[in-house]
Amino acid sequence: MMAGSNYDKAVLITGCSSGIGECVARGLKARGYRVFASARADVDVARLADEGFEAVRLDLRDSESMRAALETVLERTGGTLYALFNNGAYGQPGAVEDLATDVLRDVFETNFFGWHELTCGVLPVMRRQGYGRIIQNSSVLGLVALKWRGAYNASKFALEGLTDTLRMELSGSGVYVSLIEPGPIESRFRQNSYAAFKANIDVENSVHRESYRRVEARLAKQDSSEPFTLPGEAVLDKVVRALESRRPRPRYYVTVPTYAFGFLRRVLPTRWLDAALQSVSGGEHRRIDAP
Ligand SMILES: NC(=O)c1ccc[n+]([C@@H]2O[C@H](COP(=O)([O-])OP(=O)(O)OC[C@H]3O[C@@H](n4cnc5c(N)ncnc54)[C@H](OP(=O)(O)O)[C@@H]3O)[C@@H](O)[C@H]2O)c1
Repeated sequence: MMAGSNYDKAVLITGCSSGIGECVARGLKARGYRVFASARADVDVARLADEGFEAVRLDLRDSESMRAALETVLERTGGTLYALFNNGAYGQPGAVEDLATDVLRDVFETNFFGWHELTCGVLPVMRRQGYGRIIQNSSVLGLVALKWRGAYNASKFALEGLTDTLRMELSGSGVYVSLIEPGPIESRFRQNSYAAFKANIDVENSVHRESYRRVEARLAKQDSSEPFTLPGEAVLDKVVRALESRRPRPRYYVTVPTYAFGFLRRVLPTRWLDAALQSVSGGEHRRIDAP
């Protein structure tokens, strides 16, 4: 058993096979938290277990796997859970008119409905305890929209709305919900987005095929090659604040693009904001977030 004052604080994290989830899992474990690191592939669960995590299999598209994962966690903790870090998600690049509705549905299944279902699973535990933290890894693309990110934008905007509602409904319960709003962070997000793009977008038959060539060039590059990109530790810092502040904030911004667009969306009329965002994605070669 690991020593440290946080050890009695169990934290369940989704999407720990790579990127932010993996980084936050390691960082919280190093701070003494009891980290339940989850992943959907058995090979990743085994690797996390080898690394010393209490590793559980959890697929956000699969209700039974979420139920079983939560049951395992609660059995091991004696029925308590300090925090849930909702993190596992993916990007599905492609113009709105090129997204098959079922492809959009799939994005919501993972990025939105899975998070809702898992959150509803842990809330009775936290309400009973009288304390708890739900931390939602949203995005600057939950605050503003960019071309070719409609599916991802929609899933994160939906998450923002649901979370704002939940925060008010949890008022006075001792359970706090916070949104983390990262801009570009080093991870496998772009590689995974590129795979989703190739699998689901019919480039040759799209009116956007010329733009897609530039989109593909961007997706094929390394995440860290973009300006303002930060390592996962920048998100970890904000997760720690959301876990340890007496009154956690509703939103934590991470990266310069988030601060910039978080400000601009409040002060600019929509058409001006569109123009600013078009200039960012106009050449399809810049990004303010990974996908
Ligand atoms: N990187 C950025 O620039 C950035 C910026 C803003 C917000 N975010 C957010 O950060 C979070 C983590 O992304 P990341 O950047 O760390 O990308 P990542 O390296 O691609 O990690 C995404 C994680 O989500 C998991 N996942 C995907 N589908 C899942 C499912 N059905 N069930 C359970 N887990 C699933 C992936 O598992 P598999 O390996 O099995 O696919 C992986 O562990 C996401 O919510 C993303 O929206 C990222």
